[in-house]
Amino acid sequence: MCGIVGYTGKRPAQGILIQGLTRLEYRGYDSAGIAVQEGDSLAVIHRKGKVASLEHTLSHFDFQGTCGVGHTRWATHGKPSEANAHPHTSCGGHIAVVHNGIIENFAELREELEGRGHVFTSETDTEVVAHLLEEAYQGDLVAALRDACSRIVGAYGLAAVCDMEPGVIAVTRKDSPIVIGQGEDGAYVASDMIAMIDATRDVVILGDGEYARMTASGIEYTDEAGCAIEPRITHVDWDLDLAEKGGYPDFMLKEIHEQPRVIRDTLAGRLVNGALSIDELDLTPEELNLIDRVYVIACGTSYHAGLIAKNLIEGWARIPTECEVASEFRYRNPIITPTTLVVAVSQSGETADTLAAIRDARVKGARVFGITNVVGSPVARESDGVIYTKANKEIAVASTKSFLGQVVSLTLLAMLLAQAKGKLRMNQIRLLFRELADTAEQVERILAECKPSIEEAARACKDARNALFIGRGMGAAISYEGALKLKEISYLHAEAYPAGEMKHGPIALIDEGFPVIAIATKSPVYDKVVSNLQESKARGAMIVAVATEGDEDIKQHADHVIYIPKVRDAFSAITASVPLQLFARAIAIERGCDVDQPRNLAKSVTVE
Ligand code: G6P
Repeated sequence: MCGIVGYTGKRPAQGILIQGLTRLEYRGYDSAGIAVQEGDSLAVIHRKGKVASLEHTLSHFDFQGTCGVGHTRWATHGKPSEANAHPHTSCGGHIAVVHNGIIENFAELREELEGRGHVFTSETDTEVVAHLLEEAYQGDLVAALRDACSRIVGAYGLAAVCDMEPGVIAVTRKDSPIVIGQGEDGAYVASDMIAMIDATRDVVILGDGEYARMTASGIEYTDEAGCAIEPRITHVDWDLDLAEKGGYPDFMLKEIHEQPRVIRDTLAGRLVNGALSIDELDLTPEELNLIDRVYVIACGTSYHAGLIAKNLIEGWARIPTECEVASEFRYRNPIITPTTLVVAVSQSGETADTLAAIRDARVKGARVFGITNVVGSPVARESDGVIYTKANKEIAVASTKSFLGQVVSLTLLAMLLAQAKGKLRMNQIRLLFRELADTAEQVERILAECKPSIEEAARACKDARNALFIGRGMGAAISYEGALKLKEISYLHAEAYPAGEMKHGPIALIDEGFPVIAIATKSPVYDKVVSNLQESKARGAMIVAVATEGDEDIKQHADHVIYIPKVRDAFSAITASVPLQLFARAIAIERGCDVDQPRNLAKSVTVE
C-alpha cells in the first residue's frame, strides 16, 4: 500500500515522477504528491484523488528541477486529504519525505517533537520522519535518515530530499519494498520496478536496514553502521508492454487474457524425464515424504487459491491440510511440528499478515514454502523455498492471472507431494500433467467463446443489490473467489456458500429475481448441486449456472448458462474461475465502476 518514487539525473524530474506514480497507482490512489528541488528550495505539491489530478495541477507549474520524490497513497493514519498526502515536510520546508509502511510509535514521537516546538500539519504517522530528519540533519541526509530510523519502530520504505543537498535522494527500508535502478540519464528509486521499467531492467532490491545515497552521477550503498556494501543486481526480464494496456480497455481484461500464457509458463520445465520437478523447494523426496501436515496461509484471492489446494493435497497426497487466512493463523496457536509444511501464498509477496505468519511458523519449527509472483519479495526471501507464479506484473487491483498462476503452482505442489508419498504413480502424474497443460487451450476457448453468454448474464444481474455464489467441493472453493471478484470491483454485495449449506440460512434471502450463481460443472457432486439449484429456483432465484459443455439438462434449472469445456474436477478451478472473472468485470462495467482501481482497495497490503 502506497507507492513511492524518486529520480535524480539529467532530465526534469516532474514527468518521470508522474509516470512512475501512475504505474504504482495499484498500490493506492486516494491522494498523491511530489517534491522537486527547484532552484534552491523544494517545490511540494499534493492533491487529493488520483495521480491524474496531481498531473493536472502540475501542468500549470512545469518544474525544471532534476531531482525529486513522489508518492501515491492508500490512507492508514489520517483520512485521504490534501494535508495528509505525501511528501511531508519539516517545519522549515527544507526536507521532504515520502513513506510506504507504518510508523508504529508515531504518537509518542509526535508528542515528543511537538514538545520541542515542531509544528505538524497532517494527521499522518509519516510526518514524524520529516521532523526527526530536520533535527538530525547536519549536512548529510543519509546520516540524518540513519539517525531518524534509529528512533522509529514499524515498517518503512523511505525516500527523502533536502534543498541543502542538491541532486541527492536518501533512501532506506525495513519490511517495505524499495527497488533502485541506474538508468542512462539518472538514478531511480521506487516501491516496484515497474515504475522504472523503461529506464533499466537491472535493479537493486534494497535489503532491510540498508541505505542508498542517490545522485545523478551514481549510487552509494551502506549498511546500518554506515559501512559501504556491494549492491546485488537483479535482472528482471519484463517487457515494457507490461506497463501498458496493449489495446485492452483496462488492465483487468488484459490480464484475464494473459492467463493461457501464465499456465504454460508456470508449467514449463516442470516435467523432467516423466517425473515432476520443483527444484526450488530444495527438499529431497525423502524429506517431502516425511511431511504429515500442511497449512496453506494467505489473504484475499490467494486464500481462495489455498482452498483449492486443500482439496488437491488431501485428495492426491492424503496429507491433512488446512487453509487459513494469515491474519487468523498468526494469532492462533496452530499445531506445528518439524514435519509440518506451511505454504504461504502471496501475489505481491509483501502482505503484512502473511509475512508475520511465515515468521511465526518458522519460529515454531515449520518448513515454509512461498508461492509468490514477485522475485526477491519478502515472502520469497523469508521462505525456505519459493515457487514463482510466472504471472508477470499484475496491475489491476483485483487479482486474476496471478490467481490462476497460484492455482497451477499449488496443483503442481499437490502432485509433487503425492509423487513423493507414492500416492500417484508416474503414469498418473504424466496424465495429470498433460491434462493440466491442456487447460491453457481450454481457457483460450473460454476467452474466445463465452463473452456473449457472460454478458447476457451480467446484464440480467447488474441491478441486483445482492448475489449468492454456490458450489460443492471444488465448486465451493471457486464460488468464494467468484463472489470476492464481484464485490471487489462492482460493489455489489456477494457471498459464497457451499451449496449444501443453503438450507441452513442463506435460502431465507432468496426472493423473486435474487441472483444465484452456481458452479454446476460435471463433477462427482453435480446432482447434489442441481438439487440445491432447484431449491433456490423454486423460491424465485434467478440462476446463472457455469456448466460443462454438452450439459443440456442444466437449461431446465438455470435462467442463464455459461458453458465451459469439460475438464477433470481437480482442474475445474482453472477453467471455471475465468468466466466468473469476466462476469464480475462485465457487471462492474455495466455499473460504471473503475475495474482496475476499485474504491478503498489496494493491491498490496503492507499493514495489518
Ligand atoms: C489485497 C488485494 C487482493 C489480494 C490480497 C492478498 O486485498 O487487493 O487482490 O488477493 O491483498 O494479497 P497477496 O499479494 O498476499 O496475494
